[in-house]
Amino acid sequence: NSAAQVLVASNRGPVSYDVREDGSLHTKRGGGGLVSGLSAIGSDADSLWVCSALSEGDREAVRRGVGEAGVRMLDIPADVHADAYNGVANSVLWFVHHMLYQTPLEPVFDAEFRRQWASYETYNRAFAEALAQEAAEGAAVVVQDYHLTLVPGMLRELRPDLRIGHFSHTPWAPPEYFRMLPDDVARQVLGGMLGADRLGFLTHRWADAFTACAEQFAGGLGGTRVGVHGLGADADFLRERAHEADVDERMAALREEIGTAPDGAARRTIVRVDRTELSKNIVRGLLAYRQLLDDHPEWRERVVHVAFAYPSRQDLAVYRDYTAEVQRVAEEINSEYGTPGWTPVVLHVKDDFARSLAAYRLGDVALVNPIRDGMNLVAKEVPVVSDEGCVLVLSREAGAYEELGEEAITVNPYDVIGTARALHEALSMPAGERAERTKRLAAAATALPPAQWFLDQLNAL
Ligand code: G6P
Repeated sequence: NSAAQVLVASNRGPVSYDVREDGSLHTKRGGGGLVSGLSAIGSDADSLWVCSALSEGDREAVRRGVGEAGVRMLDIPADVHADAYNGVANSVLWFVHHMLYQTPLEPVFDAEFRRQWASYETYNRAFAEALAQEAAEGAAVVVQDYHLTLVPGMLRELRPDLRIGHFSHTPWAPPEYFRMLPDDVARQVLGGMLGADRLGFLTHRWADAFTACAEQFAGGLGGTRVGVHGLGADADFLRERAHEADVDERMAALREEIGTAPDGAARRTIVRVDRTELSKNIVRGLLAYRQLLDDHPEWRERVVHVAFAYPSRQDLAVYRDYTAEVQRVAEEINSEYGTPGWTPVVLHVKDDFARSLAAYRLGDVALVNPIRDGMNLVAKEVPVVSDEGCVLVLSREAGAYEELGEEAITVNPYDVIGTARALHEALSMPAGERAERTKRLAAAATALPPAQWFLDQLNAL
């Protein structure tokens, strides 16, 4: 029914489904930066979001023909999807672009990888074919992220009439790291991307890295244009959502958990909210907090580290191990420093958006210390909803650093001692300066709201 004028394609869609015990389907909002960014776009009759069924509930929804208007879920066979998503996208491409490989994690490109790579091609082809089928003559298609690098090239062959864009929500690896990929795979990834008319990145740093890869391994950009669109926070949505009753309830519960210092004063809080993700550097954040308690015993009993580390990609052993490591280090700190009236680290692992907003509102300091991150929307969301101002301690390796670096206290994410020093400085900042900086951070963080971010890309196409 070739009708859509604007199409988005991504692995994770705006909704997912659970099958309840009574057999009914329950709808959930998807997580992560990509979905937060794109959700604001809304659906009109002319647009279509093509995504993948990710769970049994999603597959059931496809079978029953249930679904949101403007969303088409592809029921890709579970084993093909697992190879493409877990094997290639999240074990290899994610690791390459975040430069996460280190001894003994270096990739081994063996026969198993080749099988997974074949699935990645099949999975990309399923998207290209669905898009080719759904798109109206001359429509604009914006393909999202590292899961779908081959789609632009495949779609170009099927439908030369379309305007094709691709947007990366991750960093892009520099050539000397990217070339870790087998040569033919690297060429295919670049060739697939260069099938687009236009490629979008979150920062100049990632766009330049892509251009360098294209020059070294693909003979240049050809006719493909490259643009930078720094996705911002959605202020209207966040401010409204952060003042609903469930968030107030979570705030009260959190305050209860945080408690008060022995002298009755309110405790200061260092908050963080992440998917439990190796690139987010949660463990070094905890180590920096422990260092702070060592270097500045005056903070003991007077500060709490509120850390939300939500499960992510649990099919992968490295992610499960990392989750366990985060929990182990948090418990270690609590048993080493905790007292009957003080739990130094309050760690929550169950995903709860309302509670995240509650933490954003009450945090005195936000710790965002990834070793590498496409943008990091948490850094942008916190200043927007903070009640009384929140000092941002920000890694210089996050994409958000390009826009927020000036008003944040910046850290080298590997330097635990330096991060501890930054936390002390942040906790010690006078309230006036903290509020002023938060205001300027919020302005920078909302400079390009999601709807405008998307529109700019369409216009540029
Ligand atoms: C990052 C990626 C997104 C992804 C999100 C959540 O932001 O760029 O493409 O959707 O992480 O990860 P998940 O694997 O759960 O979709």
